Amino acid sequence: MNKITVIGAGNVGATVAECIARKDMINEVVLIDIKPGLAEGKALDMWESAPIHSFDTRIRGVTDDYDATAGSDICIITSGVPRRPGMSRDNLLSINSGIVRSVTESFVKQSPNAILIIVANPLDVMAYVAYMTSGFPSHRVFGMAGVLDIARFMSFVALELDVSVRDIRALLMGGHGDTMVPLPRYTTVGGIPITELISADRIDAIVERTKKGGGEIVQLMGTSAWYAPGAAAAAMAEAVVKDSGRVLPCAAWLTGQYGHKDLFIGVPVRLGRQGIEEIIEVELNADETALMHTSAAHVRSNLDALERLQLL
Ligand code: NAI
Ligand code: 2OP
Repeated sequence: MNKITVIGAGNVGATVAECIARKDMINEVVLIDIKPGLAEGKALDMWESAPIHSFDTRIRGVTDDYDATAGSDICIITSGVPRRPGMSRDNLLSINSGIVRSVTESFVKQSPNAILIIVANPLDVMAYVAYMTSGFPSHRVFGMAGVLDIARFMSFVALELDVSVRDIRALLMGGHGDTMVPLPRYTTVGGIPITELISADRIDAIVERTKKGGGEIVQLMGTSAWYAPGAAAAAMAEAVVKDSGRVLPCAAWLTGQYGHKDLFIGVPVRLGRQGIEEIIEVELNADETALMHTSAAHVRSNLDALERLQLL
């Protein structure tokens, strides 16, 4: 693979581009935005850091010039409005669906074989918009949320137990929002389930903090997060570029898995050169299944709103 396009040079887009460049795994990153000069300026600044960080990935910034994106292998769509205090991700539906639709249309004309990784919110619905707009097969369109949400969960577990984040593995499913479904049963520290290491009350508190993790940052800064989201999207791109077979939670198009179909929602997948190589179905107990159904119903209600408001 040669080239990755990142659409949107705002907080998340610039961070994704920088994380990808610092991995030194691809020849070129194209950063594109509609604000004149923004992508060019950030790309140049990042490139000037290359001798310090020691990477050779060329970073090119452009203003709304899709010719520059031609022949991309991967596209990460971050263009969209972030939420402000008091807003939910769902409040972004109307404005961001128009942005995601238009950038997808422009991008796919130039790169019909690319893999699309969606970041804009509300995530599960924006993945649907990009999927429908692109006409790409579903293994080549998926959303970033679960990698961020488990990172938050794992970071809180590390603080709770005072252990290295390197030894923590976790699984989380469902939509990207307050109905996400962290699965403590499938979370381990050095192979030991956290249910054996942390009291039930404390696990509940960590789960609750994770569910509201995006909102916690919005409350602190007045806008949403970018360091962890950017790193998460770059990790997904890396799994594709390196054909690594990493198993990560991604918003994927379901065709009956977990009892759901015709929507994007977070599930564990195996990522590789083709994008989603496999959707993995794990055993859920009755409570977890109920939480997954609630989360899917929430995503479905947003899809209904999309249709009702004729946004697609
Ligand atoms: P930001 O406001 O810093 O950046 C967005 C950028 O998109 C701006 O530079 C803007 O000019 C650009 N843009 C808008 N319309 C465009 C178009 N038609 N073409 C090209 N560029 C366009 O926002 P930030 O913080 O980077 O967040 C971006 C999106 O990502 C938001 O929707 C946010 O909610 C979402 N997000 C999703 C996360 C997830 O876990 N899936 C995590 C964090 C943010
Ligand atoms: C987050 O979880 C806003 O979705 C974004 O930080």
